[in-house]
Amino acid sequence: MLEINGLSASYGNVQVLWDVCLRVDEGEFVALVGANGAGKTTLLNAVSGVMKPGSGSVTFMGHRIDGSAPNAIVNLGLSHIPESRQVFTEMSVRENLEMGAYPSRAWKSRRETMKKVFGLFPRLEERAGQLARSLSGGEQQMLALGRGLMSLPKMCMIDEPSNGLAPLIVTEIFEILKSLHKEGITILLVEQNVRQTLAIADRAYVLENGHNALDGACCDLAESEHVRKAYLGH
Ligand SMILES: Nc1ncnc2c1ncn2[C@@H]1O[C@H](COP(=O)(O)OP(=O)(O)OP(=O)(O)O)[C@@H](O)[C@H]1O
Ligand SMILES: [Mg+2]
Repeated sequence: MLEINGLSASYGNVQVLWDVCLRVDEGEFVALVGANGAGKTTLLNAVSGVMKPGSGSVTFMGHRIDGSAPNAIVNLGLSHIPESRQVFTEMSVRENLEMGAYPSRAWKSRRETMKKVFGLFPRLEERAGQLARSLSGGEQQMLALGRGLMSLPKMCMIDEPSNGLAPLIVTEIFEILKSLHKEGITILLVEQNVRQTLAIADRAYVLENGHNALDGACCDLAESEHVRKAYLGH
């Protein structure tokens, strides 16, 4: 479904991704893990059109998307739920969700989709008229996920949804990701919470200093000595 081949990316003349390859098949739940500054967010930004990759190719459902505009990529069914939520703080919860429905095929069914999103996140329905800035961190993450779902994606790339949240809320968010996957949404999840992530994803890639380091089935990676020492602390 998503195929990234030989992707490089730079900020000015500082290169941060080198020849990165990653594949996500339809229906998979794939994780991308790595330390701070490894280049995970840069990779998602280069895929979703937020930044232009230097070289390499990105294909989504048979379309070359590297260099395409973000809205064109969302229209194809690839939704990017960015790092640190980035909700519109001065807009209400309902308005934030409506903003997510801007691709024309999603706009027509926005009312039904919003009902589904409220089914997944009852707390957003209770707070539909409130400004997003009045939400807790966990609720803002739910809003960011809900806004991403409003575009009727086939695949979601989700950047560190657990960041800054209390353990109980993290578990709740991970349960929601599992249920989205069960409903048929293909997922690429970026996380630093490696233990919980390897427990819910099918496969994972480890990115180190902008390079592919390891990849494989999560159960195998969780057993690998390198992953245990570097990311699981034992
Ligand atoms: N806008 C930017 N301008 C210049 N350098 C940047 C910019 N954004 C990121 N970088 C640099 O690129 C490298 C990769 O950053 P990136 O944000 O992709 O890492 P990350 O793996 O997402 O890290 P984290 O886990 O902390 O979110 C880092 O060295 C970072 O300092
Ligand atoms: Mg990041």
